[in-house]
Amino acid sequence: MYNSNEVLIPREEINEMVDRLAARINADYAGKEILLVGVLKGAMIFLADLCRKIKVTSTMDFIIVSSYGVETQTSGVVLLRKDIDEDIEGKHVIIVEDIVDTGVTLSYLKNVFEARRPASFRICAAFDKPSRRTVDLTPDYCGIQIPDKFVVGYGLDFANMFRNLPDLCVLNTD
Ligand code: IMP
Repeated sequence: MYNSNEVLIPREEINEMVDRLAARINADYAGKEILLVGVLKGAMIFLADLCRKIKVTSTMDFIIVSSYGVETQTSGVVLLRKDIDEDIEGKHVIIVEDIVDTGVTLSYLKNVFEARRPASFRICAAFDKPSRRTVDLTPDYCGIQIPDKFVVGYGLDFANMFRNLPDLCVLNTD
């Protein structure tokens, strides 16, 4: 039975991180309108917290990309399984993601979205594992850097489980 009870980042620290990121976004986009694009399913909880702390006018949309499935290693192949519903030309777009690991997913999304000629395009990620990077990708807004461990909770899953854990935990497979 999988158990995931070793807390890596407690909920209080996550909450402060969301405050920090929202404050930066509020300052950077003052007087502008932004489109927040959440990457389902992992970013749902982060986006829900973040968007309620954003004071600039915002709209929201969601995409679905291929993910790990039941493995803890990425295949390196990204598929856009559900696109956003609107044209982003001339809009200020922020992609909201749960975690950057190899960077392959966000690097792919950056190419796809920048080709659509938004007014600006930035990446906001709750967590980052910089030691795992295989491509050149740095999130514009980065919450908390973590070591190379497979984590669950705060929206992140293993085989679609543990997304509801309020803290970020290291997956314990004992
Ligand atoms: P990347 O393309 O390797 O950067 O992987 C990004 C995606 O892999 C994230 O959006 C997550 O869905 C998933 N992922 C990466 N690391 C973890 C982890 O530690 N726990 C759960 N999912 C992860």
